[in-house]
Amino acid sequence: MEILEKLTKHQENFSQIKLNQLFAKDINRAERYTIQYEDIFFDFSKNFIVQDTLNLLSEYAEKVNLKTMIEQMFQGEKINFTENRAVLHTALRNFSKNPIYVDGLDVMPQIIAVREQMKNFVQQVYSGEWCGATGEKFTDIVNIGIGGSHLGPAMATRALSVYNYTGLKVHYVSNIDGEDINEVLSKVNPATTLFIIASKTFTTLETMKNAYTAKDWFLKKFARRESDVAKHFIALSTNEKSCQEFGINPQNMFAFWDWVGGRYSIWSAIGLSTALAIGWDNFKEMLLGAYEIDRHFRSAPFQKNIPVISAFIDFWYRRFWKFPSKAIIPYSHYLAMFPEFLQQLEMESNGKSVNRISEKIYYKTGQVIWGEVGTNSQHSFFQLLHQGTDIIPVDFIGFINPNFKINGHHDWLMSNMFAQAEALMIGKSEEEVREELINSKISSFDIDKLLPHKVFDGNRPSNTMLFNKLTPHTLGKLIAIYEHKVFVEGVLLQINSFDQWGVELGKQLSKKIFNDISTDFDANSHDSSTNLLINYYKNNKKN
Ligand code: F6P
Repeated sequence: MEILEKLTKHQENFSQIKLNQLFAKDINRAERYTIQYEDIFFDFSKNFIVQDTLNLLSEYAEKVNLKTMIEQMFQGEKINFTENRAVLHTALRNFSKNPIYVDGLDVMPQIIAVREQMKNFVQQVYSGEWCGATGEKFTDIVNIGIGGSHLGPAMATRALSVYNYTGLKVHYVSNIDGEDINEVLSKVNPATTLFIIASKTFTTLETMKNAYTAKDWFLKKFARRESDVAKHFIALSTNEKSCQEFGINPQNMFAFWDWVGGRYSIWSAIGLSTALAIGWDNFKEMLLGAYEIDRHFRSAPFQKNIPVISAFIDFWYRRFWKFPSKAIIPYSHYLAMFPEFLQQLEMESNGKSVNRISEKIYYKTGQVIWGEVGTNSQHSFFQLLHQGTDIIPVDFIGFINPNFKINGHHDWLMSNMFAQAEALMIGKSEEEVREELINSKISSFDIDKLLPHKVFDGNRPSNTMLFNKLTPHTLGKLIAIYEHKVFVEGVLLQINSFDQWGVELGKQLSKKIFNDISTDFDANSHDSSTNLLINYYKNNKKN
């Protein structure tokens, strides 16, 4: 029997098995399905997994050459074949002395040079050596970018805000909605503000529009020379020519390369705003944390490999169980943006319907990723996770030690996290509910009516990932685990996780519609719904 068929059959056999029965049958189940690596404790025992599942998934991984693909990525081969690019975010956090070649050229010297440039820049901004045109020290940094040029640095800056010792305020502007930039500009002083234009291509509509709005605002407010722009605007980009056209001195440009995907770019110059927020040493710790995971990912056997196991589980659930989505629930106030960051990482990577040999796919690929911090999410959407009609696996992410110990809060936070995973799995049976209702002295008529509403089926899977503490090193590890998980899942799904052609059509159409909105004539070249919407907007907007 072919391996995919075996997996299908294996899944069918699970229909009668409950998660709590698996625990009852195997007293060592928790230990058996836990991986401890350094300070990471990854418990995947509350899943529809037995040893046969892992063996079959490992066999499948071998069949699709996972090991070779992993090596090809690390070695700079052009695995992003639809864009003819290498995929080398791992090189950005490589601290070994080994060269990494792309087209016969070792990329490490340029990476190290940009790291040095970033480190010096952070130092110069802190010391005031790099200052505004009036000689005042910068108090505010405004990062203008979108997608990978926004989510990674904004998430990390928020996650590590306790490491911001200088008080430098770092703001993020991403949306073309003018309310976004207006809100930030209304708070900052042009004399003490540094703008970072973060765009791999330096052509992205939202970023360019915001960058020019910031420049106009700066020139108007500051009322000095165009040449002041060079002191207050720097760029993180692969496109030197367009940066220069904008008025950015090439010396104030921090380069990166086409083999850094947008959603994998936090480790490159795109991380500069985070480095300014937390200091270079902390930023380097983040790189080192990711480097640690790279080594684990590259060398650990599949069944002891955190990113590989977590990809196995997601692939298993998506392709064979057809679960539509997955919730990411960090029990950390500071990881509020983590689910949003993962949405781009995972859905832009694996939301594909054509395989590696350019054929249309007939099975389920990328899952919907969503989430929110615990315990807040418990009081909003957990109802659906516990009693809704879909099964939605959950990743719980927690920290043994908080950044601040205050009045027993952390033990309560963690108790809630463990309780949710337990409740999702064990549920609450009819008998238990009946007994509770009888004890609460409700009439037997009301008990029968109420009982079904209070039953929890349970049998809902989750992973729990525990770290010691949310530090820069830990955050580096956490991000890298998910990056590699997404890649492995893409290999198992037989797709290219590193392109994003699906974002292009909307961009093209928005340009056409912008032209329709800018003319005096009614739009008539679209479908009737779109024509009507455009014309209604035009007729009702105030000029
Ligand atoms: O539109 C999608 C996308 O290309 C993302 O992949 C990328 O992270 C984002 O836009 C921003 O692109 P850039 O850094 O080139 O402005």
